[in-house]
Amino acid sequence: MRPRLFDVLVAAVRPLTPQVNEYLLRAPDGGPLPAYEAGAHIELHWTMPDGEPMLRHYSLIGGDALRDDPPGTWRIAVQREDRARGSADIHRRFVPGMTLTCSHPLHHFRIDRRDGHSVLIAGGIGITPILSMLRSVARRGCSFDMVYTARSAERMAYRQEVETLAGTHGRLHDTGTQGRLDLIAYLAAQPAGATAYVCGPASLIQAVKDAAASLGWDPARVRSETFAAAPSADDVGFDVELRASGRTLRVPAGATILDTLTAAGLHPLYDCRRGECGLCPVPVLAADGPLRHRDRYLSADERAAGKSLCICVSRLQGDLLVLDA
Ligand code: FES
Repeated sequence: MRPRLFDVLVAAVRPLTPQVNEYLLRAPDGGPLPAYEAGAHIELHWTMPDGEPMLRHYSLIGGDALRDDPPGTWRIAVQREDRARGSADIHRRFVPGMTLTCSHPLHHFRIDRRDGHSVLIAGGIGITPILSMLRSVARRGCSFDMVYTARSAERMAYRQEVETLAGTHGRLHDTGTQGRLDLIAYLAAQPAGATAYVCGPASLIQAVKDAAASLGWDPARVRSETFAAAPSADDVGFDVELRASGRTLRVPAGATILDTLTAAGLHPLYDCRRGECGLCPVPVLAADGPLRHRDRYLSADERAAGKSLCICVSRLQGDLLVLDA
């Protein structure tokens, strides 16, 4: 289901690290933007200078507990990815006064207020929904523990906020100097029945799930969020021909098929955007290269048959993909 869209204004821009900028958003009429729960995100729509429609997903970081945000404003943080035109364009052109189009808050990664103990795990820019959750558990006086891992301390956006909010219940882990975090030891130290929330690279999410499984955790006690497929170094741009609607669109290397279709004003079915729910698979009519299946919904036989593709995460390693859409 496509969320309802409306305009927001960029009210302020603040660099957080050399790669990450924070954007304060407000309603054009000065009224309050819609409320949301910790972990929510929005779709952001805008047009590139060459006319290409863009769509990206960003977590809402919210009113900062350490500063006084105007009521009803939103904050998002955007990491500039060298291979992704969208984030580079945001860093280059998004300035105060610019009008953007965005969705109402979407809640696919909620923290459960019934948790006896919450474990918050953030990797890199995955801190954005986790910071909202940290603020939520800290304000409510809940039992929690948090770890924030990145390749260097300089890459840790919101480091000071995390240290202040988490206090003795949080730690920063610099993989550049400390190596990989021992997730089995970390999760083993948590109280029985804890629920983990993890956001970051797909490799971190999988490592947390593997560590939890090795400790006998119920898989439902590990909740995660990743926005679309993590770009792979060998991803290429390709054309997607939509046979039923008679359109052909270019899917850039740094974008998903689903985002490309949505940005072009089409309304494909989707929900999770993580390759899990099974709402988005589309019949494949032809492909001039191998399909890169990255979902966890299709069976091994369905993947091998190559007749269907989860367009939220999977893509083509070739030039032309023809879909029955
Ligand atoms: S949107 Fe859920 S599998 Fe693609």
